[in-house]
Amino acid sequence: MTDVTRYLDGRTLILLSNREPYEHLAGPEGIHVRQPPGGLVSALDPTMRRTSGTWVAWGSGSADRQTADSHGRLGVPPFEPAYTLRRVWLDEGDIEGYYLGFANSALWPLCHLLIQHFEFHQEHWECYQSINARFATAVYEETLRAGGVPQVWVQDYHFALVPAELRRLAPDVFIHHFWHIPFPPPDMLRLLPTGVPEALLRGLLGNDLLEFHTDRYAHNFLGCVREFLPDVQVRGESMRALVDGRTVSLGVFPISIDVGAFERLALSEDSDARASALRHRYARGGRALGISVDRLDYTKGIPERLRALDRLWNDSPELRGRFTMIVVATPSRTELLPYQNLESDVLGTVREINQKYGTDDWEPIVLVHENVHAELLASIYRAADLCLVSSLQDGMNLVAKEFVASQVDEHGVLVLSQFTGAAEEIEEALLINPFDIAAIAGAIRTALEMDLAERRRRMRAMRTQLRRSTIFDWLEAILARCAELMDGNRGPETDIERDRSPAVIVDAPVEHTAGPSRDRATWGNAHP
Ligand code: ADP
Ligand code: F6P
Repeated sequence: MTDVTRYLDGRTLILLSNREPYEHLAGPEGIHVRQPPGGLVSALDPTMRRTSGTWVAWGSGSADRQTADSHGRLGVPPFEPAYTLRRVWLDEGDIEGYYLGFANSALWPLCHLLIQHFEFHQEHWECYQSINARFATAVYEETLRAGGVPQVWVQDYHFALVPAELRRLAPDVFIHHFWHIPFPPPDMLRLLPTGVPEALLRGLLGNDLLEFHTDRYAHNFLGCVREFLPDVQVRGESMRALVDGRTVSLGVFPISIDVGAFERLALSEDSDARASALRHRYARGGRALGISVDRLDYTKGIPERLRALDRLWNDSPELRGRFTMIVVATPSRTELLPYQNLESDVLGTVREINQKYGTDDWEPIVLVHENVHAELLASIYRAADLCLVSSLQDGMNLVAKEFVASQVDEHGVLVLSQFTGAAEEIEEALLINPFDIAAIAGAIRTALEMDLAERRRRMRAMRTQLRRSTIFDWLEAILARCAELMDGNRGPETDIERDRSPAVIVDAPVEHTAGPSRDRATWGNAHP
């Protein structure tokens, strides 16, 4: 396994994201720590453990202040500190305007092309600007503390304005930014008032390198720059923009997961026992088990999935009692009305479907309406005959990759929305258009009818492909590209500059032993 820190060349890595990797919560039994669900945290915690830098994020937990020092700093993971977490405090008004407001009611729906949920409020936009400035200052403080010329890595749509602001404060710092969600075409940004798209794009052009999951998102970004910032020179085919005498490079780096950790979790004795128990309960004697795992988010196509299941049991009565679906759906952004509506819609539809088709000894949909720890997730993934990912739009979708990694018995089929970043990468999944309910039902039927040899062939191919591009390959590709840019070696101006993860089969055991645990653990001390 490559030592990725060599690409940092002695520089400290300072990472900025909105969501923190460890959140302390006060409960009846004292303070406990949990890892919030979501692709960003799942992917970046294992990478930060390797680089021992500093992660700056919003301190969102109810007991976060009690578990950090007076500067908001603490060592994490809590029981075996490997890097520093610097928490930034936000009050209710900040959360309302910046996080729930502009980030999640304007940018999130626009980037996912779901404009029916788009809302713009001037005061939210103003709050987003001031909170971005506050985070830029916190990162700047951490760069001073680190000394030397650190590397700053900004994450996601919460901080589009940070790179330009940070460059103003610290012109020499190397800044790069990973955009975890789709980047929209110009027609979407045009729905924002004049001046806002321009400010967002100028903010992002403060980076030295901007990273996306797919070519499509990177080209959409350049299309927006062409449209809204005519003074910026876009070298379209070489994926660069020239602004204020600087070159901003773009790269395509599809994110991944800690494949070895998921494999190990799925192979553990506990998982083995849990997966056998699940199969005994839901999949014995030729019956089949399907699963889905998501945050309750309107981008995930959960109502569409439920309608397809209804259609399936309606049109194929022979599958009643023979096919059960476990839907793991954790509450998310519950302060926002579209998320509250989605939650009650999903709960109501599951109830209706279960009443319509259920019997005394069969419940068609088993709803797990909570955050599930990683060990249990791995056993659910392992037990399943199919995993259904029906996102209407999704930057990557890590659940698809977690399912493939955990399928150590290689019998499951991945039914995957064509509108995920994962669909552009993973071959041998059954692709669906999530807006076509009959086609989803058809794909489930195809998966259930597929013979074991074909299922194994497909799963084996997906597993081989996934082992070649783990989260560590992703990290290495990005850090290597940054090192190249820091050295001033920008490489040839090819037609399209792709930074795919290196094609090395990682068949050696993955070094670190701590899996991506989201376990709740009781927290006794104020400091790790
Ligand atoms: P997003 O980033 O939009 O949430 P992804 O599929 O990329 O979507 O990532 C979701 C991450 O959150 C995965 O690592 C998944 O395991 C985790 N997750 C989703 N739902 C749950 C849940 N109910 N319990 C625990 N983890 C979850
Ligand atoms: O991966 C996209 C993303 O928005 C992450 O930035 C975020 O951590 C995750 O989804 C979960 O959302 P939230 O942080 O709003 O709970």
